[in-house]
Amino acid sequence: MSAAAAPVASGGWDWTRPDYQDRLHEIYGQLRAHHPLARSPAGFFAISRFADVHAVASDPGTFSSEHTLISPPGLVPTIQSLDPPRHDRLRGLVSLAFTPSRVRAMEPRVRAIARELLDGFADAGRADLVAEYARHIPSRVIGEMIGIPAERILTFLRWTEAMVALPEGKSQAENIQSPAASIYAEFGALLAERRRARRDDLMSALVDAELDGRKLTQQELLGFCFVLVVAGNDTTTNLIANGAVLLAEHPDQRRLLAADPALLPDAIEEMLRCESPAQALPRRLTRDAVLHGTKLPEGSQLFLLFGSANRDEREFEAADRFDVRRRIKRHLAFGQGLHFCLGKSLARLEAGVAFEELLKRAPDYELAGPAPWLPSMWARAHARVPVELGPAR
Ligand code: HEM
Repeated sequence: MSAAAAPVASGGWDWTRPDYQDRLHEIYGQLRAHHPLARSPAGFFAISRFADVHAVASDPGTFSSEHTLISPPGLVPTIQSLDPPRHDRLRGLVSLAFTPSRVRAMEPRVRAIARELLDGFADAGRADLVAEYARHIPSRVIGEMIGIPAERILTFLRWTEAMVALPEGKSQAENIQSPAASIYAEFGALLAERRRARRDDLMSALVDAELDGRKLTQQELLGFCFVLVVAGNDTTTNLIANGAVLLAEHPDQRRLLAADPALLPDAIEEMLRCESPAQALPRRLTRDAVLHGTKLPEGSQLFLLFGSANRDEREFEAADRFDVRRRIKRHLAFGQGLHFCLGKSLARLEAGVAFEELLKRAPDYELAGPAPWLPSMWARAHARVPVELGPAR
């Protein structure tokens, strides 16, 4: 049978519909069952099954990360939006920021930040775990590693948050460009300071770093700093916040973890699987390709629905069940292939410490109100997570 350029149904995949986030997993179930290749009303394609997402992410020659919807003009290219060979050269360098020893060395600092934040609201007996806890852990950790002055970390956080939100009437590109310009400008000034006097931070290390026997250009330095603050902030915040809600909704699982923190590493993989912070990322076709019998033309934008793939019954038994004791062999929450997440050990460390400290202080915490989802084309993010902390132990 030859591939047809037939119309492809949306199957409900339309992130602009108001109930999209509330019905996300129901929509994904429909997509996987009946529309494994879907097309949004705006003309973007999506794949939802584990095997398809895995295969496409493993073929960067056909499915490029360059010139996708999330790399609008005006942004300095970062490794996430580059193909080989430029991608591979930068990846070697970015990896230096995340050597196992560098990440391990951050543990005491992550713990101190988590405890300080908990101290800030423990007496009140209630908190919004997004506003007062989750969002500050990754931004402070990466901010301190890079060398952003303490008093500017919150400003950087607000800029990165503005890029993820999807306010009505603005395109994704408009949404990204203005905060991105602010981030570049401030990094430009901070890098100039490091050129005059080195400090013990990543920015200083970068100023001295070499790529193919030469120093990094200003563009490369800016792209590098940008990806570090942007890639890890919201994703890790959402891992902590989404996990906190999953545990509140499954008190039996929360009790298991509070009683035995050794279960935390598996629990965090399960949180990543069930409510993946990065739900969907696009690729651009470098040539025509056939998916599920349909020919997609060169230049098409194809979304990889990581969040759906992670709920695929073909890969996970009882995929919709949240089970902190599940032993997960693989999932796609950190991507797959060439662009496999470089910050995953830092994210795992931050989430592990965040839950260990939270459950030590408030083992019986409960939701104190709704935790609505933010509208987004790629993120799975609660706007707030109001909790009652319950009696401390
Ligand atoms: C729970 C937290 C996180 C999640 C869910 C996550 C998810 C992902 C995903 C899905 C990709 C693949 C992107 C693609 O295929 O296009 C990725 C790549 C990447 N992530 Fe993460 N990430 C997290 C935390 C972090 C942190 C903390 C950092 C660093 C501070 C980071 C840095 C990166 C970088 C640099 C890449 C690009 C790698 C490349 O293109 O070679 N991530 N991440």
